[in-house]
Amino acid sequence: MFLMASQYPVALLVGAVVFLLYTITSLQRKYHQYRIARANHCQPVRFQVSKDPFLGLDSIRDNIDCAKKHILLERSLSRFRQYGNTFRTRRLRTPIIVTREPQNIKTILSLRFKDYGLGNRIHAFGPLLGHGIFTSDGEHWAHSRAMIRPNFVKDQVAHLDIFEDLMGDLLALIPTDGTTVDMQELFFSYTIDSATEFLFGHSVQSLKKRLSGVETDENDFASAFNYAQDAIATSTRLGPLRHLFRDRKAAQCNRVCHELVEQFVEKALQYRANYQEEAAVDDEKKPRYLFLQGLAQQTGDRTRIRDELMNVLLAGRDTTASLLSNMFFMLAKHPRVWQKLREEVASLQGRAPTYAQLRNLTYLKYCMNESLRVHPVVPSNARFAVTDTVLPVGGGLDGNAPVFVPKGSIVAYNVYSMHRREDFYGSDAGEYRPERWADLRPGWEYLPFNGGPRICVGQQYALTEAGYVTVRLVQQFSVLESRDPGPWEENLTLTLCSRNGTKVSFQSS
Ligand code: HEM
Ligand SMILES: *[C@@H]1O[C@H](CO)[C@@H](O)[C@H](O)[C@H]1NC(C)=O
Ligand SMILES: *[C@@H]1O[C@H](CO)[C@@H](O)[C@H](O)[C@H]1NC(C)=O
Ligand SMILES: *[C@@H]1O[C@H](CO)[C@@H](O)[C@H](O)[C@H]1NC(C)=O
Ligand SMILES: *[C@@H]1O[C@H](CO)[C@@H](O)[C@H](O)[C@H]1NC(C)=O
Repeated sequence: MFLMASQYPVALLVGAVVFLLYTITSLQRKYHQYRIARANHCQPVRFQVSKDPFLGLDSIRDNIDCAKKHILLERSLSRFRQYGNTFRTRRLRTPIIVTREPQNIKTILSLRFKDYGLGNRIHAFGPLLGHGIFTSDGEHWAHSRAMIRPNFVKDQVAHLDIFEDLMGDLLALIPTDGTTVDMQELFFSYTIDSATEFLFGHSVQSLKKRLSGVETDENDFASAFNYAQDAIATSTRLGPLRHLFRDRKAAQCNRVCHELVEQFVEKALQYRANYQEEAAVDDEKKPRYLFLQGLAQQTGDRTRIRDELMNVLLAGRDTTASLLSNMFFMLAKHPRVWQKLREEVASLQGRAPTYAQLRNLTYLKYCMNESLRVHPVVPSNARFAVTDTVLPVGGGLDGNAPVFVPKGSIVAYNVYSMHRREDFYGSDAGEYRPERWADLRPGWEYLPFNGGPRICVGQQYALTEAGYVTVRLVQQFSVLESRDPGPWEENLTLTLCSRNGTKVSFQSS
C-alpha cells in the first residue's frame, strides 16, 4: 500500500512530462511545416472528397463498391471533373492528395524524387517478390536498377527469335473459320512463355500446354504465378487488415514460383563458376544472351537473383499482355484502323520484320501509343512523402497555388484520368483514334511508362514484343471482327485489362 501510494504522484509527473514533450514536439513540427508552407506560398487543396473527414470510411466503402461494379477509373475521372485536377481524400488517418496535373507528377517522380518512397508496397508484394527493383527504395533499389538495366540495352531487346518461335503456338490456337476466340487469354499465355524464356532461358510452355489440352493445377508455374499475383492485388486492397485473412493457397503458390526459379538460379551460378571454360567451348555457335546469366555475373547471392527475376517477371509479363489485349479490343472495334495497319505492314511483303523495320512502322506506333493513352496498363499509382515537401500546383480556389505535403501523406496520381484531359487531347479525348499521334508531342501529360529515375526499364522490350506480335497477326489475317457487343470495361488488378477478355474472330488473308 505504502509503495503504491507513493508511485501515484511519480506516474502522474512522468505522464505530465511525456504529454508536455509530445505537445511541444508536435507544436514545433506544426510551426516548422507552417513556415515551409508560407515560404512556398502554399494554399490548401480546396475540395475534400470524403464526407467523413476523420477516417474517410465513406471513401473506403465507395472504393469497394466501385471496384465491384468495375467503374473505379470512370469514378476517378468524374471526380476530377467535379473537384478539379487535384483534390483531397483520406484513408484512415493518412491524408491523400489525388492529382492528374503533369507538373505535380513530374515533381514527385523526378524533380523531388528523394522526397518520396513506395511506402508499404513491400508488405503486399514481399511474399512473392522479396526485396528487388520493384519493391525497394534507396540504396537497395539503386543497386537493383544498376544490375538490371544493362540487360535491356538495344542488343538484347532486338532479339526477335523468341517472339517468332512462339508465333507458331499462338497461331495454332487461333481458329481461322470465324469462330470466336478470347485473345486476352492467349496473350497472357504468350507473354508468360516469352518472359520466362527471356529471363530464365527456359519457357514454361503454357501455349503448348493449352494446345495439348493438359489440365493445369496450382503446381503449374503459370497458374501459381497468376494466383500469387491476384493475392497481391487483394492484399494491397486490404492493407493492414490482410493479417486477418491468411491465404494458404497464396503461400503454396509463392513456394511453387520460388522453387521453379531457384532451379534456374542454381544453373546460372554453375555457369558463373565455369564462365571461362564455357566461353571457350561455345566459341563456334554463339550462345544466345541470357538475362539470368547477366544477373549472375553481377552477384552470387542466390536469393537476390531469385527476387530480381521475380520482380522483372511481374513488372513485365501482365503489362505487355494487357497492352496487346486492350489494343486488340479496340482494333476489333475499328476495322478501318486494322485496314490501315494492313496497308502499312504490306511493305514487308509477308516476311517477319527485322528490329529496324519494326521501328519504322509509324502507324503501328500510333496504335500502341493510342492504346496506352486510352487504357494505360498502369492507370493509377502513388508515392509516400518521406519528408515535408511541396507540390507546384493544386492549391487555392483556382487550383494554381502550390500545395504543402506533410511527411507521411500519400500523393496518388491518376494517369488514366490525365490521359483523358480534354485541355490536352481535345474534346474526343475518350476516343481511340491513332491518327491523333501524327501531331502530338506530349510531355509529362502522357505517362504510360512512368518518368524520372524509376521510369520503366522494359519500355523498348514491351513495345518491341507487342509490335512484333501485332505485325505477325496483321500479316496472317485480313479481317478482325469484334465479338463483344458491349464496350470495353475495366478489369483492374495490378494492371488494367478488359473485363470481358478480348473476344474476336479472324479470317485468313
Ligand atoms: C506495356 C508494357 C509496360 C508498361 C505500360 C509498363 C509500365 C511501367 C510503369 C508505369 C512502371 C513504374 C512503376 C512504379 O514505379 O510504380 C514500370 C516499372 C518497371 N517496369 Fe515496366 N511496363 C511495361 C513493360 C515492362 C516490361 C516488358 C518489363 C521487363 C521485361 C518491365 C520492367 C519494369 C521494371 C523492372 C520496373 C521497375 C523500375 C524501377 O522501379 O526502377 N516493364 N513499368
Ligand atoms: C522505312 O519506311 C519507308 C517507307 O515507309 C521506306 O522507304 C524505308 O526504306 C524504310 N526503312 C527501313 C529501314 O525499313
Ligand atoms: C509515342 O509516345 C512516346 C512518348 O511515350 C513518344 O516519344 C513517341 O514519339 C510517340 N510515338 C509516336 C509515333 O507518336
Ligand atoms: C462478353 O462476350 C460475349 C461473347 O463471347 C458476349 O456474348 C457478352 O455479351 C459479352 N459481355 C459483355 C458484358 O459485353
Ligand atoms: C481480370 O484479370 C486478371 C488478370 O490480370 C484475371 O486473373 C481475372 O480473372 C480477370 N477478371 C475478370 C473478371 O475477368
